[in-house]
Amino acid sequence: MPFGCPFDMHGMIGYRFRAGKMADTEENEQKMTVDKWKESWSSPDVDFHNPDLNGVFLKYNNRMLTKPDMRIFVPLCGKAVEMKWLLDHGYKVVGLEVAPVPCKAFFEENNIPYQVKEIGAIPGEKYESLDGNCAIYCCDFFQISVDICGEFDGIWDSGGLNAMEIEDRAKYINIIRSLMGKGCVNMTEFNNFDFDTNWSMSTTDLKKCFGEGYQIEDVAKMDAPEKMKDIGCIAVLLFTITRI
Ligand SMILES: C[S@@+](CC[C@H](N)C(=O)[O-])C[C@H]1O[C@@H](n2cnc3c(N)ncnc32)[C@H](O)[C@@H]1O
Repeated sequence: MPFGCPFDMHGMIGYRFRAGKMADTEENEQKMTVDKWKESWSSPDVDFHNPDLNGVFLKYNNRMLTKPDMRIFVPLCGKAVEMKWLLDHGYKVVGLEVAPVPCKAFFEENNIPYQVKEIGAIPGEKYESLDGNCAIYCCDFFQISVDICGEFDGIWDSGGLNAMEIEDRAKYINIIRSLMGKGCVNMTEFNNFDFDTNWSMSTTDLKKCFGEGYQIEDVAKMDAPEKMKDIGCIAVLLFTITRI
């Protein structure tokens, strides 16, 4: 397992550079940097990629997909299979991922003809399908802006906010807010863990971070699946954040 991170098989957990199941001492815990993430994608087949569609996504995507032709953003996407599902259902998809390996793998594994260009305004490349329906920005999330990728009608965030260090959450959310067009519904899945209560996310926390003009709903709270319990996950939560 790369870096001993608590990666789960369901593709959402990969937050910290931990020595073992949980960091039991301060020195066991190191920040997960973009370079470490890139290293963790040493091959397209990583433990934290879930080859199956996310059950929460399947059950609740109608909260986000309210009209045809929507443009959906998938932050910190890896090679998430929900992107292919969205394309197959007629939506336009824009992912963002810092590691080139999953960007390339997404197009090749799904047999989507694509080209790669420099983003230009910031360091990184844009992988884009030749039909223009799908793009993945291969760059650091913290450098993206609405001027580069435009606003979105929906966001599927599974493992994006959840991958952030606590101190980076506000900065992450500020960028997400800026990419949400009017009426945009952001479906955010979040796994709460028992190793740090500060790590957990609540509706109140999200309300505080998103602020005025955004409506937060806690849609579902589920018990963690057994194999996620093994790594300290106590609950899987789904929030929707709507820009009103
Ligand atoms: C926990 S994985 C989630 C992957 C994907 N959302 C899924 O459900 O399969 C987090 C992903 O975010 C990427 N990542 C981490 N920090 C990033 C950053 N600052 N900018 C862009 N991508 C980042 C990692 O390379 C990794 O693929």
